[in-house]
Amino acid sequence: MNKTPPSDPNDPISGLLIDAATRAEQYLESLSSRRVGPDGAALEQLDRFDEAFPEHGESAASTLALLDEAGSPNTMASPGGRYFGFVNGGTLPASLAAHTLASAWDQNSALSVMSPVASKLQQVASTWILEALSFPSEGGAFFVGSATVANLCGVVAARDHLLAEAGYDVAARGLIGAPKINVLAGSSVHSTSAKALSIAGLGRACVHSVPVDEEGRMRADLLSEVAQATGKPEAPTMVLAQAGEVNSGAFDPFDEIANWAEQRNAWVHVDGAFGLWAAASESKRHLVAGLDRANSWATDGHKWLNVPYDSGVILVRDPSTLRRSMAVSAAYLVDEGAILEPMHHTPQSSQRARGIDAWAALRSLGRTGLQELVDRTCAHARRFAEALTSAGFEVLNDVVLNQVLVRFGTDEQTARVIATLQEDGTCWCGPTVWRGQGAMRISVSSWATTNEDVERSVAAMISAAGVAGAAGGEASGAHETSARSTNADDADV
Ligand SMILES: Cc1ncc(COP(=O)(O)O)c(C=O)c1O
Repeated sequence: MNKTPPSDPNDPISGLLIDAATRAEQYLESLSSRRVGPDGAALEQLDRFDEAFPEHGESAASTLALLDEAGSPNTMASPGGRYFGFVNGGTLPASLAAHTLASAWDQNSALSVMSPVASKLQQVASTWILEALSFPSEGGAFFVGSATVANLCGVVAARDHLLAEAGYDVAARGLIGAPKINVLAGSSVHSTSAKALSIAGLGRACVHSVPVDEEGRMRADLLSEVAQATGKPEAPTMVLAQAGEVNSGAFDPFDEIANWAEQRNAWVHVDGAFGLWAAASESKRHLVAGLDRANSWATDGHKWLNVPYDSGVILVRDPSTLRRSMAVSAAYLVDEGAILEPMHHTPQSSQRARGIDAWAALRSLGRTGLQELVDRTCAHARRFAEALTSAGFEVLNDVVLNQVLVRFGTDEQTARVIATLQEDGTCWCGPTVWRGQGAMRISVSSWATTNEDVERSVAAMISAAGVAGAAGGEASGAHETSARSTNADDADV
């Protein structure tokens, strides 16, 4: 075995980065022809990482080589065109390239004084996002790690605002002894909202569930009834709505919710981890009527905007509401000035400049490209639904967006089809549970998906159904494999 030289901080960086870029390009080029998930031979390569912690450092070049040789084959090919699991986007070339350069810059974007370029580009990206979504221009968009964190920011801002309106300073006094807040949410609200409520000290159990319709849309006509049932309908109220139900892709009726909330000075927070981007498309705008009337919104960059992980965005109608909750100390509230500093509007102090990735994605797409990305992926989803319906399978949702729920007979048959499909490797989809029934979810969120990817994937799904005995024919061969990620909560990602 060759002994690699010990690492030297003076390793030639230029050769190293060119090597990394070459390997990255080769990896991306391999995506259209490789299987989506790793096979058994690839998985065995992971053992190569089981080294003893080296006494003396290994060279950077050998470290990169090992990462590529044993690591690249063990990725899920989610940046390619045939990964439809969870709700994962790919990475737009401009955003990946910008992210790579910005990694070399290694900027801390907590404060503008720490990085003029990060500060500038985050401001530009924030303005463009508000504009793309037709949100109030006086609002603010701030970059965080994920939609989960963005939901947390929205819930905390709502909590602090509502309590401040009630004359209670929760930042100073804490929640013990605070006035009660009513939290109303559709019963299909995403699990990260409950997590946000728990972290925010309000508790998962504080939610008063508003019934939903067959697509998972909140029955806004029942808001008053649910508020009444809290026993204290006049209490400060937050409503958690969603743009893009994680399974069906459906949208809550925002205008009706806003009409109700405005009469009570209630705070409306919208989880739009992927669905918020529908607002960027003319053809989808009817789905989001009234969305701009909310107080705060959470979304992801790493899903439908197709920027690298990790990237979420918290948007607020009035940035000072977020600053109340996130400023490092009350002193910072006094002279915020023109620049809305990330450190005083997000949970983190030091942070990478996530806005650069979003800026590059938006600049390379432009308004029409962003709209086209949304429309194209939705059209792919409809193509999946039509082809699978024609093949005799049951599509469970109204495919209004990029999400398709398909069922291949019984729960067991559906689980076998998913396992067979994952084993086949042409494409990757996971299981979910929709209205008590097992289903396979197809989420088309990647810019890279082509018509050909859809055709190949449909053929693989129909073939998997045949192998798993779910095509109305005989069960052929007992498949002992089980689909990856069968936990209903996992399907929420
Ligand atoms: C509607 C919704 N909200 C929140 C999340 C959580 O997003 P993240 O994984 O970025 O925290 C997801 C993930 O799929 C989602 O679909």
